[in-house]
Amino acid sequence: MVENNGAIRTLSVDIGGSGVKVIVLDITGKPLTQRARTETPQPAKPEAVIDAIVGLAATQGEFHRVSVGFPGVVRGGVTETAVNLNPDWIGFDLATALSKRLNKPVRVINDADMQGLGSISGKGVELVITLGTGFGSALFVDGKLVPNLEMGHHEFRKGETYEEQLGRATLEKVGEKKWNRRLERAIASLEHLFNYDYLYIGGGEAVRVNIELAPNVKIIPNITGLLGGIALWKD
Ligand code: BGC
Repeated sequence: MVENNGAIRTLSVDIGGSGVKVIVLDITGKPLTQRARTETPQPAKPEAVIDAIVGLAATQGEFHRVSVGFPGVVRGGVTETAVNLNPDWIGFDLATALSKRLNKPVRVINDADMQGLGSISGKGVELVITLGTGFGSALFVDGKLVPNLEMGHHEFRKGETYEEQLGRATLEKVGEKKWNRRLERAIASLEHLFNYDYLYIGGGEAVRVNIELAPNVKIIPNITGLLGGIALWKD
């Protein structure tokens, strides 16, 4: 333990389908280090991904606790789904396993939930979607998270899910123009369903969005996926 709370440094980890990223945050959530990234190991089994995190953590200097954004459903530190990683994650106690390796307390939540925590205003109904390998989603009501919203695997159109229609593999296949048209439809559909006050669009492919967005829809930088890590320790 550290005596001075202000000196607590949090290692924030974002596990993605294509990259694993880390950064150290101060108590206010401000980055203290340069973000480090490595390719997600293939096959993306728990031990290999944990090795990658431990390797990256060694480049970040001192830290006292760890926050992880994971690309699947997470309950009590245990990962329940991992469509874009590996089936070995189903029922895996990531918080305990990583805590043993790093010798620090670890908290884990869904990656889109973590990105949302780094982006929202805390007022009204706020929806976050992330465009990357997968399609992530997070919902907040007056700043309170409704955990593990899995819009990505919900049917969107033509018998396909949001992730099948808008994930990175499809973007590469159909091209930016078609993908952007689909995204426009997805936003309209989500607006009708959630009647959100704000919609935030993040993830590695958000930079490829080129449609006109309503004033209550914002593109958020990918770094917010890591910045949200501080919110996991707000109790
Ligand atoms: C997963 C979500 C995740 C999203 C983005 C989806 O395939 O089911 O839990 O948030 O990908 O990584």
